[in-house]
Amino acid sequence: MDKDPRIEALRDMRSKVNQGGGQDRIEKQHAKGKLTARERLSLLLDPDTFHELEPFITHQGDEMNMSTEKYPGDGVITGYGQIDGRTVYVYAQDFTIYGGTLSEMQARKICRVMDLALRNGSPIIGLIDSGGARIQEGVRALGGYAEIFRRNAQYSGVIPQISVMLGPCAGGAAYSPALQDLIIMVELQSFMFITGPEVIKAVTGEVIDPESLGGAEVHMSKSGTAHMSTPSEESALALCRYTLSFLPSNNVENPPFFLPADDPQRMDEKLNSIVPIDPSISYSMHEVIETVVDRDSFLEIQPAWAANAIIGFARIGGYSVGIVSQEPSDLAGVIDINAADKITRFVRLCDCFNLPLVTFVDSPGFLPGVDQEHSGIIRHGAKVLYAYSEATVPKISIITRKAYGGAYVVMSSKYLGTDINFAWPSAEIAVMGAEGAVNILYKRQIQAAEDPEAERKRLTEEYRQKFSNPYFAASAGYIDDIIEPRETRSKIAAALSALQSKTSDVQPRKHGNIPV
Ligand code: HXC
Repeated sequence: MDKDPRIEALRDMRSKVNQGGGQDRIEKQHAKGKLTARERLSLLLDPDTFHELEPFITHQGDEMNMSTEKYPGDGVITGYGQIDGRTVYVYAQDFTIYGGTLSEMQARKICRVMDLALRNGSPIIGLIDSGGARIQEGVRALGGYAEIFRRNAQYSGVIPQISVMLGPCAGGAAYSPALQDLIIMVELQSFMFITGPEVIKAVTGEVIDPESLGGAEVHMSKSGTAHMSTPSEESALALCRYTLSFLPSNNVENPPFFLPADDPQRMDEKLNSIVPIDPSISYSMHEVIETVVDRDSFLEIQPAWAANAIIGFARIGGYSVGIVSQEPSDLAGVIDINAADKITRFVRLCDCFNLPLVTFVDSPGFLPGVDQEHSGIIRHGAKVLYAYSEATVPKISIITRKAYGGAYVVMSSKYLGTDINFAWPSAEIAVMGAEGAVNILYKRQIQAAEDPEAERKRLTEEYRQKFSNPYFAASAGYIDDIIEPRETRSKIAAALSALQSKTSDVQPRKHGNIPV
């Protein structure tokens, strides 16, 4: 049978589509140790599930008449596929075509899959590798970004949005990932900045390399913009798949439930002795969390930024939960501005996507000092209060040691609407620590005493007897139960089960006005 020329033409076109910006540029991409957009998609998605959309779109000319070559796809591959059998919509920027830069048509393609993701209640995942706005297109490229940003904001809280950063993300382009739920970066390969090294050099004369300006290390430990990082593209894409296993496809679904291999009733005796009797000795809250949750299920987010706070996904008895806590061995678990921002955004992420919040509390309170006050600790601390008060998902808290002052109140306390409040026998619930309180309350009495030091000690001990335990708070109804630490896992698992049908009575309003 003769070959049908129309079919042959389609095959030729398809093969051109698959070549991206051509073999030379693919080799250049590989030489940099980077994968192509198509290779990335095949690692991200379940095998043979990807279906491409609009592969034949090309740019429609530019203001400077420079982009004479029209590459099908125009620098981004879009479509849908599956991750662990669930539908996701994807776009992967193709650096081999005009450096993956954003043109009017590229923006249209991205917006189209975003719209389909929203309409179908599926996550949208962007694989970013781009030189930013395509300079030749002028305002048309800029308008394209605006279309994307508007969708990022309007779809926020409806479908999960994840950016995997696999190369440059330069200029205002960084605002799309910043508007999304989670950013995963590849160490020493991806970077994000508003003003690139060339611009900085032109303006200030300073020569700075992209890595130290906006590499993964910067955004994971200094700016707090990225959420997770890995050493390779392969592990970043695998991490994206794993992250989605904690999240529902949209805001009206529940997160996936995994039949637990780890017994929800498991008790670990080591928890009963993990909090040292001496209040000045710290312990690892990470160890507490790892011991309580389903084995190896804790996925920490932003571990190196504001390390005095801990956030992350985990499973308990197979249920996805969001864990929030302090790390008492880092700055004593104090809440500072960055910790407040870190906790707030995560609480809201969990609330958007129906993940119950499990909060472990051990904090001496807000960080005192001129710098924190002048930088707005009131404004930032208020966000945590706002987020916990607003969250309608099941909320469970466990006070392990210090819950002093503001830390007691903001960290998922009962009258912020927390459903079940536990305390360990080591809990200390008070307006402030014993030493500070005694100095304020008994200043004159101590000065007048025959032996001021002995008097201070006596009064401090008396204060401790009263407040450095959970019994006073429990007797006044501020704690639902005092439990042995080893029981924590089974108590949380039972509470999660009991709170499954939680309903909320939120008043209709346009939206609240969270302090920012
Ligand atoms: C058009 C661009 C481009 C751009 C790169 N290219 N950036 N074309 N517009 N913004 C092209 C290059 O000319 C080259 O084309 C190809 O992409 C690969 O780029 P290289 O420079 O060869 O690659 P590399 O050495 O790896 O460097 C990548 C880079 C660098 C770090 C991204 O190209 C760069 O700094 N680009 C500018 C980044 C930037 O400042 N963007 C901000 C734009 S303003 P050929 O044909 O040779 O392969 C912006 C505002 C958005 O984004 C506002 C939204 C609110």
